[in-house]
Amino acid sequence: MALLRRTPWYVLLAIALAGASTANGAVNTAVTAGSPPVEATATSLARTVIPSPVSRIPGEGTFTLDEHSAVDGRGAAAPVAEYLVNLLRPMTGLSLPLSGRGNIVLIVEPGHTPGGYDLRVTPDQIWIAANEASGLFDGVQTLRQLLPPKTATTTRYGIASTTITDYPRYTYRGAMLDVARHFFPVSMVKRYIDDIAQLKMNVLHLHLSDDQGWRIAIKGWPRLTEIGGSRQVGGGAGGYFTQADYREIVKYAASRYITIVPEIDMPGHTNAALASYAELNCDGRARSLYFGMSVGFSSLCVGKDVTWRFIEDVITQLAALTPGPWIHIGGDESSATSLKDYKAFINRASGIAASAGKTVIGWHDIGWATDLPKGTIGQYWDYITPRGGSWVLTGNLLKNGGQLIMSPSNVAYLDQKYDLSEDIGTEWAQAPLTIQEAYGWDPAAVFPDRDPNTILGVEAPLWTETVQSRADIEYMAFPRIVAIAEVGWMQQDARNFDDFAARLATFGTYLDSQGIGFKRTPGVPWLKAVP
Ligand code: ACM
Repeated sequence: MALLRRTPWYVLLAIALAGASTANGAVNTAVTAGSPPVEATATSLARTVIPSPVSRIPGEGTFTLDEHSAVDGRGAAAPVAEYLVNLLRPMTGLSLPLSGRGNIVLIVEPGHTPGGYDLRVTPDQIWIAANEASGLFDGVQTLRQLLPPKTATTTRYGIASTTITDYPRYTYRGAMLDVARHFFPVSMVKRYIDDIAQLKMNVLHLHLSDDQGWRIAIKGWPRLTEIGGSRQVGGGAGGYFTQADYREIVKYAASRYITIVPEIDMPGHTNAALASYAELNCDGRARSLYFGMSVGFSSLCVGKDVTWRFIEDVITQLAALTPGPWIHIGGDESSATSLKDYKAFINRASGIAASAGKTVIGWHDIGWATDLPKGTIGQYWDYITPRGGSWVLTGNLLKNGGQLIMSPSNVAYLDQKYDLSEDIGTEWAQAPLTIQEAYGWDPAAVFPDRDPNTILGVEAPLWTETVQSRADIEYMAFPRIVAIAEVGWMQQDARNFDDFAARLATFGTYLDSQGIGFKRTPGVPWLKAVP
């Protein structure tokens, strides 16, 4: 039979042994075949994929990734093919040339499920196809997880034949990083982009300004960054992105098919701006820089012309720097602004953003405003059981033709403590937030009487009052962000926690291999940490 002729004996042995696979589904079979010794590695069909695909049907035999493998990805598939080889070369130690005739074929072509991809592994070929390059990129993330792990002697990688059909539940699958409370440089933002890309997330929302820091250079307003960007929570040195830095982040994100959503929070959460320019305050007196963690005490002066010159400059410059369709104007917790001023402010600021060609996003509080651009999107941050006000405000946004991004704070806020005995994290949104809670909610069930199509997607915000380093970011995010990624990708009826926990346990070995120091949360059968 063809399989026998084409498949090396050690792979067949590994396939035979795959019946006795380990709990995580991987089989590593050391076989000495002359000198130097070669380890043949096969993988069982149960190899973990997160988020789990819509359909995965096992096939016959195994594809062997080895020194003869090459990647064929032309035209619209070329950037994804290049990404794939750059990913797999260090993962496997193989040369994996990019050539027009490889046995790993990537294709962008019509005929696949919108937003999704199809992936087929046969003994001869790996084939991934999608309508758009972004879908192909998600297919590559799946392929990456099908690979058995590398050991020091591995030179061939068996990937069990399979046919996968996959597509997301929601088009917007986001993470948010607060670079205002603590500042994180471009390199760390890029790292977080790679962290979330592997989860098939496609949006990174950057919270660029708050009471404690202003983090983006705006031409004509140099003190925003000189003063407003100089510190952070606790009073230590802060930092900011130049416009070139921001462009670099946008470009890097685009190479991972991730759209950047910039947020300037207003009219509250603005102390850093109010400390930078005295004239933005109603009393004309500059505020002191703020290093604490309180909220709700600052407001731009809504009635002053200079405020509107400022807002116009900020929004139009940010819109010009941002190729994505959205701009986020914040709007939360403006307790230091009168309701009359708040409504006037949000009406006018949202109009400026719309005139700059963007769809406006705001925290759901902006549902107070009476004259929002049609289709303005609300980011819901109340609990999974809405209280009266948030029900009304989100209803106002929907009546205006808008949609909701779901970030219920008691299940999706990654800054909430895992465990109240830990120092890192905050507690205000019903902490502790367990992995079971981060997984166990349905975005469409928060407002059960509403049309599920009013939900654009989900987002996992990471506020950084207590988060100070790359290690802190990854510890608070992982593994709960993996749960939120499944909430955004998988159909609701396909999800259950026990199945997720078993896959997550194996996924932990990938996180270990990437140096992501995640929380070994209770209730997941984690495998031993890789030393
Ligand atoms: C928020 O957590 N204040 C949006």
